[in-house]
Amino acid sequence: MNTTFKDKIARAPKTELHIHIEGSLEPGLIFALAQRNGVTLPYASVDALHAAYAFTDLQSFLDIYYAGASVLLTEEDFYEMTAAYVERALEDHVVHTELFFDPQTHTARGVSIETVVDGIERALDDAEGRGLSSRLILCFLRHLSEDDALATFDAALPLFKRYPHRLIGVGLDSSELGHPPSKFARVFDKARAMGLKLVAHAGEEGPPAYVYEALDVLKVDRIDHGVRSIEDAALVERLARERMPLTVCPLSNLKLRVFDDLKQHTLKRLLDAGAAVTINSDDPAYFGGYVNDNFFATVDALGLSDADVHAVLRNGFEAAFVGAAQRDAMIARLDAYWHAA
Ligand code: ADE
Ligand code: ZN
Repeated sequence: MNTTFKDKIARAPKTELHIHIEGSLEPGLIFALAQRNGVTLPYASVDALHAAYAFTDLQSFLDIYYAGASVLLTEEDFYEMTAAYVERALEDHVVHTELFFDPQTHTARGVSIETVVDGIERALDDAEGRGLSSRLILCFLRHLSEDDALATFDAALPLFKRYPHRLIGVGLDSSELGHPPSKFARVFDKARAMGLKLVAHAGEEGPPAYVYEALDVLKVDRIDHGVRSIEDAALVERLARERMPLTVCPLSNLKLRVFDDLKQHTLKRLLDAGAAVTINSDDPAYFGGYVNDNFFATVDALGLSDADVHAVLRNGFEAAFVGAAQRDAMIARLDAYWHAA
């Protein structure tokens, strides 16, 4: 990619629709919080922790990711983690972001869900004044039971009321294989009845059947990842026909060995088939890059054209959970930038 194209992409106004806020915790901050909170980590140093980031699959990552999140105890910790992500997002010209958080990772350690959401919300509220709008999506850990998810949802009800402008949806993450979307049908029914937005990780390591379940049982508004959909031609056709957004995270897929080489990534084939593909970072502190790095690596590996990148950026704004006026304004800003740059 030449430097002009790279610069055009770097400075483009963009969304980020698939970022786990706990996955933005950099090793340096993990150690600083561990020291402040008196938490002992199973790693001797920042370098030793970083050296452990040699993942073989999703589970090998999740084990370390949950260990990293164990340093988060106070509202200030959640604030600082989120404020650090906000700085990186602004550097990458993100103008709208939708963050996932995993309350069960924290409530299981005795941290209240209010502490988690209050800290994240305070940092996102500060970011509004700096040109970054945002939404927050509560994710259920799929390796736990649906009863645990239902209890978490009930505990979060006051927060959905307190922060209706921010906390607008629920999602499903963690270990995919063996935990199909249908396991969470009841809790998604409750969330849908409340008018919340619905998303689910599906087709990351799991088969196309899990994507069908996310669509037909959970009735999601977006699919997170969805890259294995390519194995089912009828599914790809449906995703394209319904313009069902896919929040794709190329460096994550590479680091978790969904693909051995980024050149094998299915993003371009999905895009060419008409799917509403977006590019995101997933867990940027663990996978070697924030959203712009994901764009650069993907453009290089798959030879995305100027029109391809514009389409991906536009898809992000179209898939964002915002009102029509904000969406139209953001798309107009992107288009003006793209055609002038
Ligand atoms: N939690 C954080 N990152 C995740 C991913 N890529 N897949 C599933 N759960 C996650
Ligand atoms: Zn994810």
